[in-house]
Amino acid sequence: MTGGMIEDGATAGLAGSTELAILGGPKAFAERLHVGRPNIGDRSMLMQRMAGILDRRCLTNDGPLVREFEQAVGEFVDVRHCVATANGTLALQIAIRAAGLEGEAIVSPLTFVATAHALRWQGITPVFCDVDPRTHNLDPARVEDLITERTSGIVGVHLWGRPCAIDELTALAERRGLALLFDAAHAFGCSHRGRMIGGHGNAEVLSFHATKFVNSFEGGAIVTDDGDLAERARLMRNHGFAGYDDVRSVGTNAKMSEASAAMGLTSLEARDDFYAANRDNYEAYRAGLEGVGGIELIAYEEAELCSRHYVVIEVDESAALSRDELRRVLWAENVLARRYFFPGCHRMEPYRSAFAEAGRELPEAERLTDRLLALPTGTAVGPATVAVVSDLIRRAMADGRRLRRQLQTTAPLDGDLAARGGS
Ligand SMILES: Cc1ncc(COP(=O)(O)O)c(C=O)c1O
Repeated sequence: MTGGMIEDGATAGLAGSTELAILGGPKAFAERLHVGRPNIGDRSMLMQRMAGILDRRCLTNDGPLVREFEQAVGEFVDVRHCVATANGTLALQIAIRAAGLEGEAIVSPLTFVATAHALRWQGITPVFCDVDPRTHNLDPARVEDLITERTSGIVGVHLWGRPCAIDELTALAERRGLALLFDAAHAFGCSHRGRMIGGHGNAEVLSFHATKFVNSFEGGAIVTDDGDLAERARLMRNHGFAGYDDVRSVGTNAKMSEASAAMGLTSLEARDDFYAANRDNYEAYRAGLEGVGGIELIAYEEAELCSRHYVVIEVDESAALSRDELRRVLWAENVLARRYFFPGCHRMEPYRSAFAEAGRELPEAERLTDRLLALPTGTAVGPATVAVVSDLIRRAMADGRRLRRQLQTTAPLDGDLAARGGS
């Protein structure tokens, strides 16, 4: 360990011995268990870097730690250029502009809403394309059907860190003369056919948000082998400044701060601990959920490098409880499992009003947004906690009928009824 302490706060003794909390038993966890508590890394190293920042009095504006972080990220994902930013959303906006997107861009609806907003923010229409139910990523066969004369690009999302159909999308983009970007916010530290995610398409976009595999408090990056694109992105990141008083293009302020870079470097150095903790948790979930009717744990390619930063289950309500019912059972136990990504971008404004019919054309995304549930993992939990959570799920699904009756008499969770309103 390099100080990326694994803290497993499970109250494991309660597993299996008492009534579920929704039925009046005690909560399995005294404290709330969150899906994405941050991975920290070596605290003393972080403090040392922070002291250096204060000593140098260089807090931002392309400082030495930002440059070091860009170098380290670029080497790790094996690309020629890395432009670090204040967050992943700004990195997306800049990559979209630097790649020349306009008009329409084809994108998955099954993603964090920032992917769609980054397009819309710049007056580009996101055209939602259905996903492949096996991968949860853009279905390349359907992408081609959505290309019009207004289409300028495709934005794939490597959801859960599982790569998009990169080869098919690359061939399609080349054949149809489109730009190809990837939102790789989930996929830092993952590989595709042995090559790290980061080096595909015209550019890929990373997020180092606090909840991500490697974090810089808030942060992001554009990674690419295209030197011209990187240069445009670098200018845009800093108001178009090419030097003192020399503004060459329209830009924004998307600069990463030195404090963020200090955290990013510290977090990056501890990645082997994060990989190991996530693998242990994932394997514990796999063992704990084996044979539970109606629960399918999403799988990762064993042959690829993978952060396993997301532990996601698909809940089949015909077997016992629906995803939302199971979520209520878990929340009653203080397990704050999350509905990533419910209800889908196409069901959020402004897209919901603009594309009222979208749901009908996105059957797979619709089905998945009703079934997916993300479970707690990362270095803040460990296999003992995972065993308790898995046991709760096993017991809930085994007792579905009785629980469903009970749930009818208890108040729904905030948002349970609202998001699908009107359809
Ligand atoms: C798929 C995806 N894209 C984009 C973002 C935006 O990144 P950031 O939070 O760093 O702005 C996130 C999450 O945070 C995300 O999960």
